[in-house]
Amino acid sequence: MGRFDGKVALITGGGSGIGAATARLMAREGASVVLAGIPAAGVQAVAEELRESGHSALGMPADVSSSYEVEVAVSAAVSEFGHLDILVPNAGVQLHDRDVNFHDLPESVWDETLNVNLKGVFLACKFGIRQMLSQGTGGAIVITSSITAIATRTPNFAYATSKGALLALSRNIALNYAESGIRCNAVLPGALERTPNYDIHPAPEERAAMLREVVPLGRPGTPEEIAPMIAFLASDDASYATAGEFVIDGGRTTI
Ligand SMILES: NC(=O)c1ccc[n+]([C@@H]2O[C@H](COP(=O)([O-])OP(=O)(O)OC[C@H]3O[C@@H](n4cnc5c(N)ncnc54)[C@H](O)[C@@H]3O)[C@@H](O)[C@H]2O)c1
Repeated sequence: MGRFDGKVALITGGGSGIGAATARLMAREGASVVLAGIPAAGVQAVAEELRESGHSALGMPADVSSSYEVEVAVSAAVSEFGHLDILVPNAGVQLHDRDVNFHDLPESVWDETLNVNLKGVFLACKFGIRQMLSQGTGGAIVITSSITAIATRTPNFAYATSKGALLALSRNIALNYAESGIRCNAVLPGALERTPNYDIHPAPEERAAMLREVVPLGRPGTPEEIAPMIAFLASDDASYATAGEFVIDGGRTTI
């Protein structure tokens, strides 16, 4: 018996990092998982890997900032597996390569970041909740925010702003849909070994050294250390948890 036997989970940004780690964990514990995201090769590779291990998985290429593509991904999940029980709107970008002073920040960086990190979560939740309401069996949503929403200094104002807004969105989804049995929580990871768009970080060595200094546990985390928190909140073990914000950051935001 797995915690997620009979459950269907849709995870955005499932082709790498936290999304892929969460998909692997939920699939191992019985979930049918739909990995929605871009690039297509990423979500399809993780889905293929899971199917080869005997799990039920579907890779759905979808840009989360496209209303049409998100709606199609939710429909595909239901066509393939019959229903939708768990939503993990997790896709995000942090455009390190375009970090500049706030007073020089191009609108394009602001728009691109907010379109993926905030609008993308809005769209996934909108279509996901619509499906959950039509089923009438409740559901669980776990949104990936970040400790930049509550603490730490980052040169990336657009990123931090998007992650802060997700806390308000998450809380309001929880409060407005509680009576429909839909729970919603946010996880706030600290800095991980890899970052969104990690391949474009301009100074990975300096970042690693800085994290050894400022994180009480002395190192960045890994996607595999965030996935269990997401899985817990998505599971019936967390049946009394809603409107919560769960920091998982090696102790960084307490100092
Ligand atoms: N890595 C960290 O240090 C860290 C810390 C706190 C929060 N987070 C958050 O965790 C989430 C997952 O990030 P990660 O660390 O696994 O990094 P990641 O870059 O591996 O994951 C992000 C995923 O989203 C996908 N994606 C990007 N734009 C998309 C779009 N428009 N449509 C669909 N998919 C898109 C990427 O291709 C990637 O697969 C993000 O929301 C990120 O902001 C990460």
